[in-house]
Amino acid sequence: MTQPFHVRIEDLKWRDAELPNHGDRVSARADAAGKAFFLETFGCQMNDHDSERVAGLLLSRGYREVETPEAASLILYNTCSIREKAAQKVFSRLGEYREKQSEGKVIGVLGCVAQQEGEEIFKRAPWVSLVCGSASYRKLPEMLAQLEAGNQRVTGLDTDTDETFETEVTRRDNPWRAYLTIIEGCDKACSYCVVPFTRGPERSRASDPILREVRQLAALGYSEVQLLGQTVNSYADPTARKMRFSELLLAVAEVPGIRRVRFTTSHPSDFTPDIVEAIEQQPKICDHVHLPVQSGSTRVLRAMQRTYSRQGYLEKIAMMRGANRPIAITTDIIVGFPGETESEFEQTLSLLNEVQYDSMYSFKYSPRPNTLSLSMSDSISEEEKSRRLGVLQNRQREIQAAKNARLVGSHFEILVSGKSRRDNQWSGYTTSHRMINFASQERALLGTYVQVRVTGASPNSLVGEHAA
Ligand code: 5AD
Ligand code: SF4
Repeated sequence: MTQPFHVRIEDLKWRDAELPNHGDRVSARADAAGKAFFLETFGCQMNDHDSERVAGLLLSRGYREVETPEAASLILYNTCSIREKAAQKVFSRLGEYREKQSEGKVIGVLGCVAQQEGEEIFKRAPWVSLVCGSASYRKLPEMLAQLEAGNQRVTGLDTDTDETFETEVTRRDNPWRAYLTIIEGCDKACSYCVVPFTRGPERSRASDPILREVRQLAALGYSEVQLLGQTVNSYADPTARKMRFSELLLAVAEVPGIRRVRFTTSHPSDFTPDIVEAIEQQPKICDHVHLPVQSGSTRVLRAMQRTYSRQGYLEKIAMMRGANRPIAITTDIIVGFPGETESEFEQTLSLLNEVQYDSMYSFKYSPRPNTLSLSMSDSISEEEKSRRLGVLQNRQREIQAAKNARLVGSHFEILVSGKSRRDNQWSGYTTSHRMINFASQERALLGTYVQVRVTGASPNSLVGEHAA
């Protein structure tokens, strides 16, 4: 396996210019001129980061990245199948690409829909040449070589693997915050979820290469690292060092140059006191935990196979609320799981009242292929699911409006990551992942850390002023 070596595009160009043999350089460029790729990504942060790694892999093989499918000879579509709508979108998008193949372009499907539909994609969209799930990305160089050699159809569909996707080069989208996958796949078996089928079994990366990568990232100027995994806190170091997740968080935070460490998504069952202790003792570990609850009813949680009860979940919340540093808590909720009664839905509403989440992602239950809940009876009508979703979102909006209003007057440090086209308007995130918009006459704030005083609040964001 190759050692991960992550660089940004600017550094890639620099490396290219440093090639020892001028002849090689010319031929590498001439080769690259014919091979341009366009990569479109849908879905979660794991998918975003997979695409960064796939793009890095292609760049290191001499491809160029372009902004439109028209300018590309290779069109890749990294897909999501978590809910039915997302998966349907793939086939309508592939339809748009249909005529592109007749122009000699190669079209490939990556990610969860690729894994889920497999060779079926060739039947539904015969103009596709490559189908590859995320557990097979390490085979992409081989697959690309087969395509370059004129092969019409290549697939990578194994999930039976204990390997992780190690790339020599990652082309990162954000110049300040770097995503870093520490655990791939999922060993939980939530009855509604396709992820264990589309991403395969849980595989943790070894702690040493993770820490080496963090040091490389810091040397390249990244100050914020976000550790990723479907169940990031289930991390189990496969090496003799056997670092616990909380120890890894602390070790990442200690790397010189790193100012913020985030992590997502945590599973409540593996959320242990040592993680809260790490947040308490190390301010560089962000005071934000995304802890999806999915439902406030123990009966529904059992049917979902979530492995915890309402009470058990609330104990984890109490543990965080007892920390000596306030921790922002966000969640995911599904409404309309098969058989969810009105009173069970109301238990979810009462959980919102009890926990007072800082933010929430909410979804209507969507039946997915292969999952256990697919065959469960008592499905809830679309109309009722929409009603429940609306009620839930209104409730959460009120909670956020009240919580954010209480923040007016407080000071936060933010990492400035956005600049609006309107003059002097900037935005950035606090360690607790609150977005703040603020005005400043300064010219070059992007990527810097500034102090902001909150002057106004809405349910989803805060307004502030640059405070020195
Ligand atoms: N239907 C609706 N929402 C789902 N999620 C996962 N599977 C489904 C499904 N079948 C939601 C969960 C998860 C988030 C990423 O997506 O809330 O935490
Ligand atoms: Fe899906 Fe459950 Fe695994 Fe999350 S923990 S990815 S919801 S199976």
